Amino acid sequence: MPSDPPPQPAILFVCLGNICRSPLAKAAFRAEAAKAGVAVEVDSAGTGNWHVGQAPDVRAQATARRHGIDISGYRGRQVSAADFRCFTHIFALDADNLAGLRAIAPRDATAKVDLLLNLVPGRAGQGVKDPYYGADDGFETTWDDVTTASRALVATLKG
Ligand code: 4NP
Repeated sequence: MPSDPPPQPAILFVCLGNICRSPLAKAAFRAEAAKAGVAVEVDSAGTGNWHVGQAPDVRAQATARRHGIDISGYRGRQVSAADFRCFTHIFALDADNLAGLRAIAPRDATAKVDLLLNLVPGRAGQGVKDPYYGADDGFETTWDDVTTASRALVATLKG
């Protein structure tokens, strides 16, 4: 967890279970920031608590591995009030989770809270589709979405 207040951009990605979409967003963004030489803190969390302490879904792990990234060591956690002070930006993967975040944001929140795909021209207002109950290729679509958003976010942070 970054310090409060964070010394550099600190980005938290939030989905429902923290085992599919937000771990992939964390991996993609970390890779894009490193490629661009941008120093960041990054983490992911879920609005739900069903998968706290669990590794990402095996399909998410396989997708990241196909793109050269090992996320097997990630562990699920639930978003907390402290996250709204320790992170500079919190990005929800879809509108339901954005609403969930807004509902629990403490009064002294300093993080900017937004929908991830609002970063992507032409995709504002859209959610990253939940691949959990779908076919395996849904995870590749997730990867494409979070990579596109991560590139846009890195460009914004580079300013
Ligand atoms: P995620 O996907 O929010 O992208 O991690 C899900 C994972 C688990 C569940 C729902 C969505 N679930 O109901 O357990």
